[in-house]
Amino acid sequence: MTLKLQPLNKTYNLSNYQEVVDNFSWQDVEKQFSWFNSGKVNMAHECIDRHVIDGYGDKIALHYLHDEEEVQLTFTQVKEKTDHLATVLRKSGVQKGDIVFIFLPKNPDCYIAMIAAVKIGAVAGPLFEAFMEEAIKDRINDCDGKYLITDRELVKRVPKEQLPTLEKIFVTSEQEHCIDGEISLNELLRNTVCEDNITEWLSLEDPLNIHYTSGSTGKPKGIIHAHRAMIQQYQTGKWVLDIQEDDIYWCTAHPGWVTGTVYAIFAPWLNRATIVLNGGRFDADTWYSTIEKAGVTVWYSAPTAFRMLKAEGDEILQQHDLSSLRHILSVGEPLNPEVIRWGIEKLGQRIHDTWWMTETGAQLIVNLPSEVIKPGSMGRAFPGIEIAILDDEGNRQPYGEIGHLSIKAPWPAIMKEVWKNKEKFDSYFQFGDWYLSGDLAYQDEEGYVFFQGRSDDMINSSGERIGPFEVESKLLEHEAVAEAGVIGKPDALRGEIVKAFIVLKKGFVNSPSLIEDIRKFVRYKLAAHAAPREIEVLEELPKTKISGKLLRRELKVLEQQRLLLNSK
Ligand code: PRX
Repeated sequence: MTLKLQPLNKTYNLSNYQEVVDNFSWQDVEKQFSWFNSGKVNMAHECIDRHVIDGYGDKIALHYLHDEEEVQLTFTQVKEKTDHLATVLRKSGVQKGDIVFIFLPKNPDCYIAMIAAVKIGAVAGPLFEAFMEEAIKDRINDCDGKYLITDRELVKRVPKEQLPTLEKIFVTSEQEHCIDGEISLNELLRNTVCEDNITEWLSLEDPLNIHYTSGSTGKPKGIIHAHRAMIQQYQTGKWVLDIQEDDIYWCTAHPGWVTGTVYAIFAPWLNRATIVLNGGRFDADTWYSTIEKAGVTVWYSAPTAFRMLKAEGDEILQQHDLSSLRHILSVGEPLNPEVIRWGIEKLGQRIHDTWWMTETGAQLIVNLPSEVIKPGSMGRAFPGIEIAILDDEGNRQPYGEIGHLSIKAPWPAIMKEVWKNKEKFDSYFQFGDWYLSGDLAYQDEEGYVFFQGRSDDMINSSGERIGPFEVESKLLEHEAVAEAGVIGKPDALRGEIVKAFIVLKKGFVNSPSLIEDIRKFVRYKLAAHAAPREIEVLEELPKTKISGKLLRRELKVLEQQRLLLNSK
């Protein structure tokens, strides 16, 4: 029998799922937005400016913590800063519909840049801070990017000479630190008078942001979302994040990942939350301190982070007062029941799993705070969302049977398009208007969905989506590598790790130093998170007889068999 965890007896924005699910309408949600009456649409306005207009200008919008540094900005201050940067961008030539790439660490500049770009109708393109030159090049060149905002450190990884369409690189530093035609944002801001009424009024279908995401084939694809996504991002923020007026909200993701844009910036600010932003990388002590210092009440993170915290043990936990926490959520990879148990025992909270994807633009399957949680399940369909488990022919599977997790399109936040790749967009819709997620799952009679894996070779390491093709391509550029096959190997901490099987070129001999050199090559050229944690040399790789196509599945089976043998 499935374990059921009852909700805590508290007041939530949504008190009963069953009561709303039958009569839910997205049109009703639209009434919450100022554009419902004014007809003037812009995500940046709904996130920031309207709260100032509504009288909440003095409320803290952003609380940034990094090492000893702490910055707090009110909604009025965020409005002023984003108006100012928006003015600078517009005067620098950025026009409605242009993509502005934003390559910054998790800091206020990054959030301000995101909102400022959106304010003038540009398309925000956040890039993950761990990206190296190849990852940056692939993304900017794919969509002929013209503008980039970055900082003094990260600009060193931007391969300018390989970015022919890039016209302007804005750097968040002084002119004297800018080289090779880089433009000092500090100087521009000093010399530009902020314009009133800088907001570009748009339609709900206008593009909002672009996130490159990996699949099992080819290079990452640019997923474009439209301003209409705010309808669903607002409502999930209200019911799933359960943001209430006094909440201090912290989502740990970087905006380069879709969660770090949608649920670290848009959804909480649409709900007028005070957002916590923590700089730097994962560190248990820093993370617990962030919760304690900022008084975080609602916390959204990922299973690997929870597992890492759990692995750090009780001592460090007990050094911190985490009693401000009232609601915890998770996303991005399977949430193990033992992590939920840890949450209950050590934090006194249930951890609420949620499921969605870059392409879906917002949460679709959720555990609501007012509802029963079944550990191992990602929850039920958000109201207004219809899901089905389909077999290979597109027929609905009975309860309990594994199949393709699919969602009836459209819904407000669904991607608008895949950048210049209609074929890829269409590939998600092999069965009419059912969006095929690529995930395998089953559903029980009460509608709870249980994740079972991917139907393709996409790798999910620490909740980060990695395409094997991208890593293989990079490996093949190393002078010693003749062939490469990359898979996700099951891992207790990270869910999966990137494992590469390679065949060496003639004349190269397998040695620990060569393997380390190959690993570093991927790490420093592509991205740290995509570098194989394990590299194994084989005599040959499994391939199909006729076309000679790499059989990653066989590599996966090989690895699983070994794990089974080792566990016996
Ligand atoms: O395989 C599913 C996994 O992450 C994929 C989507 O990755 P991405 O587009 O990077 O977005 C991640 C966060 C929105 C999905 O196809 N995934 C996401 N959430 C869960 C999950 N796997 C298991 N449980 C989840 N809750």
